[in-house]
Amino acid sequence: MAGGDKNIWIVANWKSNKTIAEALEWIGQVGPQIPKAEWLKVVVCPTFSALSEVKKAITVGNFPILVGSQDLSPFGNGAYTGEESAQNLKELISLTILGHSERRQNFAENDEIVGRKLQKANESGILPLVCVQSTQTPVPSGCGLVAYEPSFAIGTGNPDTPENADELAKLLKGSYGEGLEVLYGGSVNSGNVNNFIIQEYLSGVLVGGASLDAAEFTKICKIVGERV
Ligand code: PGA
Repeated sequence: MAGGDKNIWIVANWKSNKTIAEALEWIGQVGPQIPKAEWLKVVVCPTFSALSEVKKAITVGNFPILVGSQDLSPFGNGAYTGEESAQNLKELISLTILGHSERRQNFAENDEIVGRKLQKANESGILPLVCVQSTQTPVPSGCGLVAYEPSFAIGTGNPDTPENADELAKLLKGSYGEGLEVLYGGSVNSGNVNNFIIQEYLSGVLVGGASLDAAEFTKICKIVGERV
């Protein structure tokens, strides 16, 4: 098993990409090729508009892929125009990405809002995956899964070193508890994923750009799945 008895997560963050047709084509290509293993947790996070169809295609195909969202509302149901509540999303998703640096930069998302969203996710049984840029970003209480994503590495082709990412994971676990699972994100691809998942303290990867291409993402999953 990869890295002893721990889970390894591979989370695809599509960001604002893919029509429903493109999303379904991706599921049709990737789904049948994902290695099946209890410890391997593959998650795809499409746009809100594609969530329902993606969930359906994965269920019908019985593929070992979980569905996640890239955000959710800090409010419950009610008069919050444009928001997607955890209550409404819970039938579609198992996980939600919260506090991605692109949301912090472009949508004024701050630690307090991330904390409120995390509470809503937990209340609805959705697993929150909180993105942190460094050890300076606070991990809200009730959070068991984080992604260390330094801004310089996101979408740049310039990943952090696996050793540095592992050191960050070690520090985060030291601060918030050994049970905290820490992923690395930022320019992960099939050429470097192995270097991250073999690290002692890391529990997987969050993949942006390289997750959009079905063949490349399948390759990433196979490389991780082959580590027995
Ligand atoms: P990237 O994005 O893999 O394209 O660098 C990662 C992310 O933003 O989650």
